Amino acid sequence: MTKLTWGMIGGGEGSQIGPAHRLGAGLDGEFSFMAGALDHRPDAGRAYGRALGLDVDRSYGDWREMLDGERTRDDRVDLVTVATPNATHFEITKAFLEGGFHVLCEKPMTMTVAEGEEIVNISKETGKICAVNYGYSGYSLVRHMKAMVARGDIGKIRVVVAEFAHGHHADAADADNPRVRWRYDPAQAGVSAQFADCGIHAMHMASFVTGQEVERLSADTISAIGSRVLEDDAMVNFRMSGGAAGRLWTSSVAIGRQHGLTLQVFGETGGLRWAQEQPNQLYYMPLGQRLQVIERGEAGLSPEADRASRVTIGHSEGMPLAFANIYKDLAEAIQARKEGRTMDPAANLYPRAEDGLRSMAAVFAVAESGKAEGKWVDARPPMFR
Ligand code: NAI
Repeated sequence: MTKLTWGMIGGGEGSQIGPAHRLGAGLDGEFSFMAGALDHRPDAGRAYGRALGLDVDRSYGDWREMLDGERTRDDRVDLVTVATPNATHFEITKAFLEGGFHVLCEKPMTMTVAEGEEIVNISKETGKICAVNYGYSGYSLVRHMKAMVARGDIGKIRVVVAEFAHGHHADAADADNPRVRWRYDPAQAGVSAQFADCGIHAMHMASFVTGQEVERLSADTISAIGSRVLEDDAMVNFRMSGGAAGRLWTSSVAIGRQHGLTLQVFGETGGLRWAQEQPNQLYYMPLGQRLQVIERGEAGLSPEADRASRVTIGHSEGMPLAFANIYKDLAEAIQARKEGRTMDPAANLYPRAEDGLRSMAAVFAVAESGKAEGKWVDARPPMFR
């Protein structure tokens, strides 16, 4: 098995998510970091790339230069991560897929549903992987939750309750700070702020765990801070393809909440509860029995959970290791293609372009429903109706 190579666009010095990608991609030694266009300022990007150990000729000033440089090399990178601001994802992801690269794109994958459909089509036509970084689906116990639901441990799913509510934009006095303001400005953020930024993680996780797609939804959106055009808080009710009812709350004004991603799933014979801030415990309540705490790393978990767990029980695993599981899946997917074999089914869990597209359709549905006083609207992309 040859070691795979990896490149990154965005994620420059001081960026929020760049370090988690570098930790995740490097963790298992399956990818070597070989190329990057890390910053919107070419010189800063080149300098930071070199500081991280990239060769001078593969530390690029911008993504077009990287595309040209890598395309013509025999040892071109196997996977490219796009971790730039949202409005650039479509153009860069499209160009690299068409250039013959596998891509892991940050969320939201695109700014419109039409762009999302185009990416799905390009990924199919080129045969290149387009994954989307719903990285929290990489947690071992989230994968175990999915396996428990799939094998019927809690019976038919009745209700899913998802939250992604934090309080980091709650200070009205800070609302005009340029680092915060753009997020609520439709010219820069698109049709939705908080739902597009955080709500889609919770909605993706609801679908990932239940194996059901969101079909229609009704949204109550507000701008709690009055100067904001886009929503900073939303309550979304939805219905899923297998009959489950969903409730999702997302907020950026929930003072006291830090990250705030949680998922609860209630079936006919049991309930499950997991929270991103305590990711090493999964709470399982079988009907009529006592509450059980399932610990990450304990014996007897599903193969998907075991594959996504690295340190022994009792030692915490956290967010960069969840991202590492997305990279581990992608490494297996790419190696399997190279070797002409079927991939390990326990690795076939990385979020796809189709998931990125479904999120985009949900973002537009939330915006439409929110404007129409919660009218129920179709949440599926036209391609999947
Ligand atoms: P950031 O603003 O902290 O960093 C963005 C980085 O991209 C900077 O280094 C900037 O110089 C660079 N950049 C901007 N335009 C570029 C271009 N054209 N070419 C090359 N580099 C460029 O942003 P942050 O918070 O790291 O977010 C980046 C993306 O990651 C966003 O799409 C965001 O939604 C997503 N994200 C995902 C998370 C997850 O859990 N999956 C968590 C946080 C962010």
